Amino acid sequence: MFGVPTGHAIVGRGRDLTTGIEYAVKMRRGAGNVERRFTREVEAMRAASSPNVMPVIDVDPDGEWYTMPIARGELTPAIKGLSLSDREELALAVVRTVAHGLHSFHREGRVHRDLKPQNILWLDDDNGARWVVSDFGIARNAPGSTTADLTRQGNLVGTERWAAPEQHADAHSATPRTDVYSLGAIVGWIMTGELPTPVYVPLPSERYRTVVTRATRRAPGQRYPTVDDMLQAMERELEGVSGPLSTQLERLLTDPLDVKAFNDFALAHRGNGALFLPELRRIERSTVNTWFDADPEGMTQFAESMCDLLKDGQDVGGLQREGLRPPLLWLLDVLRHLVRRRRLDLAESLANALFTASGSLRSIPGRRRHRALAKGSVA
Ligand SMILES: Nc1ncnc2c1ncn2[C@@H]1O[C@H](COP(=O)(O)OP(=O)(O)O)[C@@H](O)[C@H]1O
Ligand SMILES: [Mg+2]
Repeated sequence: MFGVPTGHAIVGRGRDLTTGIEYAVKMRRGAGNVERRFTREVEAMRAASSPNVMPVIDVDPDGEWYTMPIARGELTPAIKGLSLSDREELALAVVRTVAHGLHSFHREGRVHRDLKPQNILWLDDDNGARWVVSDFGIARNAPGSTTADLTRQGNLVGTERWAAPEQHADAHSATPRTDVYSLGAIVGWIMTGELPTPVYVPLPSERYRTVVTRATRRAPGQRYPTVDDMLQAMERELEGVSGPLSTQLERLLTDPLDVKAFNDFALAHRGNGALFLPELRRIERSTVNTWFDADPEGMTQFAESMCDLLKDGQDVGGLQREGLRPPLLWLLDVLRHLVRRRRLDLAESLANALFTASGSLRSIPGRRRHRALAKGSVA
């Protein structure tokens, strides 16, 4: 037997009696829903057909089983004992596999919905040795065609750790960006060795940090639209186009500012005070406008992190007290912007962070203005 059997299927080894060739045989357990699911699974695998998708060799006319070539193993144990550069390469190989394997599948609006290390297998056959995407058991058809929910854990269609937030809420809302999320979680896991949870995705310390941050944003609209976009972002990083963080930030702060790219970078590295605090004043008011339109929550999160850094008084890029004025004024500007745009929920939360920050720094310039603003008199 291969892998761990789940409720609906079991995968074992079988031999073709005429040719003597051995195959992996996936056998159905149960009838009804499971039967429909099995038929759909084979249909989806054939529709996705790509060298990076597990091939289906033979299907039982009664829908009891189908056969595949035998894979060498799952992605799961492959990350053990790898060096950092090996991890970087493995993560890239896996994202490339999914980008190629699911390219046409995603273009048709279909979604795999269960990308995880147990469903990415190492296959060595006539087409060469490579990773393949497997187990299309809960794939979603294109919107418009009916998809009964065939596997549920509570409300969830997917596997808890790797599933995107929208899979917990409404499985029908899955889009290719749902697969982008799971893939982001897989990259985070490959790079850190840490398993994600439904509310936490481990972020790499540097390389791919921006990529994982963007791929696993809770709002699908904030993620990469396609796996190809995610792959390109990773390739750009590896080609060294990125360079050290300060160079990346320098490049991002050029005019006109690519707010989306800056947003992702800012959220991924917002724990880095030395990097951002001295540069905040260079992020102009017009940029704050565009940033707000693109992602008000993300912008506020970033601003709050900056407050926290000021409050903790940790390394803020060697800024002396006088040097703290520009970042504080910038944060105040962001707060004013939130009030003006009537996002009072976000404004309140940022105001709290700003008070705490200014409270822990004595004789802060502009402090009285914070108070005035909180009372609404400056807005
Ligand atoms: N072709 C194969 N060759 C070798 N092992 C396989 C193959 N297909 C699946 N497995 C193993 O069996 C496990 C379960 O198969 P999978 O198709 O993912 O079924 P399930 O729907 O039960 O998750 C996989 O995680 C993998 O370890
Ligand atoms: Mg599986």
